[in-house]
Amino acid sequence: MPLRYTVTAALPYTNGPIHIGHLAGVYIPADIYCRYLRAKGKDVAFICGSDEHGVAIALKAKKEGKTPKQIIDYYDQIIRNSFNSFGIAFDHYSRTSREIHHKTAQEFFKILYDKEIFEEKNSEQLFDPEAKQFLADRFVTGTCPICQNLNAYGDQCENCGSSLSPTELISPKSTLSGAKPILKKTKHWYLPLNKFEDFIQKWILEEHKNDWKPNVYGQVKSWVTNGLKSRAVTRDLDWGIKVPVKGADGKVLYVWFDAPIGYISSTKEWANEKGLDWKPYWCDEDTQLVHFIGKDNIVFHCIIFPVMLKASEQYILPENVPANEFLNLEGQKISTSKNWAVWLHEYLEEFPNQQDVLRYVLSANAPETKDNDFTWEEFQARNNNELVAIFGNFINRVMVLSHKYYNGLVPESGKRFKEDINVLEEMAHLPKKIGDAIENFRFREASQKIISLARLGNKYLADAEPWKLIKTDPERVKTIMNTALQISSGLSILCEPVLPFTSVKLKNMLNLDQKTLGWDAIETKKTLIHPKHLLGKTSLLFQLIDDLQMDTQREKLKKSTLDNYLEEKKLAPLKTKTSYKDFDTLDIQVAEIIQAKKVEKTKKLMKLTVRLDGEERTVVSGIARDFDEEELIGKKVSLLINLNPRKLKGIESQGMILLGENSKGNFVFIGPEDKTIPSGTRIK
Ligand code: 2FM
Ligand code: ZN
Repeated sequence: MPLRYTVTAALPYTNGPIHIGHLAGVYIPADIYCRYLRAKGKDVAFICGSDEHGVAIALKAKKEGKTPKQIIDYYDQIIRNSFNSFGIAFDHYSRTSREIHHKTAQEFFKILYDKEIFEEKNSEQLFDPEAKQFLADRFVTGTCPICQNLNAYGDQCENCGSSLSPTELISPKSTLSGAKPILKKTKHWYLPLNKFEDFIQKWILEEHKNDWKPNVYGQVKSWVTNGLKSRAVTRDLDWGIKVPVKGADGKVLYVWFDAPIGYISSTKEWANEKGLDWKPYWCDEDTQLVHFIGKDNIVFHCIIFPVMLKASEQYILPENVPANEFLNLEGQKISTSKNWAVWLHEYLEEFPNQQDVLRYVLSANAPETKDNDFTWEEFQARNNNELVAIFGNFINRVMVLSHKYYNGLVPESGKRFKEDINVLEEMAHLPKKIGDAIENFRFREASQKIISLARLGNKYLADAEPWKLIKTDPERVKTIMNTALQISSGLSILCEPVLPFTSVKLKNMLNLDQKTLGWDAIETKKTLIHPKHLLGKTSLLFQLIDDLQMDTQREKLKKSTLDNYLEEKKLAPLKTKTSYKDFDTLDIQVAEIIQAKKVEKTKKLMKLTVRLDGEERTVVSGIARDFDEEELIGKKVSLLINLNPRKLKGIESQGMILLGENSKGNFVFIGPEDKTIPSGTRIK
């Protein structure tokens, strides 16, 4: 049994607000877990904070003509407000821009440095000869070699999603000065993950084979199988934490080196404020450390940060890293740049005081084992059919009848019948069942078990029919209503981790002390609400959501992506004029796709075999996100066939398919309208 728990939730980047994907993947599960632990009387430190370094923030500041500090201050506030409003009850929420964090991260680096853990290596990196600065990959833009997007970054094309290296870009230029980058030597410190392969193998792949989630375990395994490599933990950048050793001028810690240390500095800050010692929370073996993250953060929390902790020889390792998969929205990936998202601050404007509805829907539909879809239709259905029709309805009946029959005074129970005993017995088993689900990170199941108690209560009332019996057997009705009030009280306690606002509201309605009764009282079948106790006023716990509200939300989504699309189109500069002669050098022909196979270990690339006139070619195209293999077969497309062949993921691509983008940001083929046109027809 651990003596205490340190629970962390991924530090959000302060370069944008928070959306439902963040909430579903990380913050709601973490919050449910911590609320449950607190309800069980455990010593918990629930830690988070803003992740405020890194290139993305520096770049955003530059784009908006602001300082990075202005950007992080702005979003830190928005993010904090969102967490507060949704009841994400951190014990402490810090910022990595604070001095305590800079100091902690530098000390951490120094510990590893003094232990000679790092390798120092010189390498060639892109350098802006005009701005006289090294360039992070994100500071280089150019044309994507795969989809021809003019504004691809040095590490990724956001249009087709391909991972790139800056040297692959066509016509690369520095975003600082517009100059063409050159390669220049620079020194960096590397964390030799390869030297820790045995440690990861033993600690995760053997010891945690059965208790870590398969999606997390699988990712770690595949990283180890592919061989761990040294990772640079410093960068040439002027926004970040200075590297605290000689010969490191102009260098900062890599954001992924400093961010997880943010969990430690945030804990320190919390402990200082509370007059506690932070060390047991990070150094004592009887502390259970759990990191809640999204799946894109697995490598950092399961390999890199643990290697740092292990190498320091001072810290405990995480007991579990229950990463979730991704939440999609109305069938599409949530995208900040395409504005395909439900932002928390906007949700609150449209559904004021309905935080628990979103908390419930996101728990009930959490992407625990696979990516999941959020739809407004499901949101409405879960609210109307589960929260309103089951939970709200049960409580409303109990409250209304208790006020009507007993003026709001809890009636005395007579001798309980079998059905009363059974229902109370079933409730007594729930704390353990819900607890097991939460302790094993099955939050969907936990949310359903909570609703099952309300369902049980509803059925109990429907079967007992106190509204009929009141005329013939008022004594029996007292027992029934007393039992129903015990269930209502149980619900107010057990729903708290998932539905904290509802729990408060319900306890107020029942006029119960918010704190005194715990889960143990339900398990040991204590009387939760006593005879003659005066109930509070009845109000509705949940409200019906109508079709019009949902239509408005769907319209809003469509409109915001369309606006975004039109805005981007407006901003995209026209290409410079070209001559007919140059255009005439392009050989574009009609080609038919005859085979399609997704390229392994990539998200976007599809390997295609296409037929021209009497010739077959292999083409690699970044379209796998938008098309399935089967639907591509037989499609006639326009293919630029005299482009120099280029290798993508080891496959030589002998041509480029012409593509456009629709208003949802999905690719569409720019092919011949007349499908009978023979392959190999030249397009002029
Ligand atoms: O992916 C992200 O949003 C990162 N800011 C998460 C950092 S988690 C931790 F290491 F701080
Ligand atoms: Zn691209």
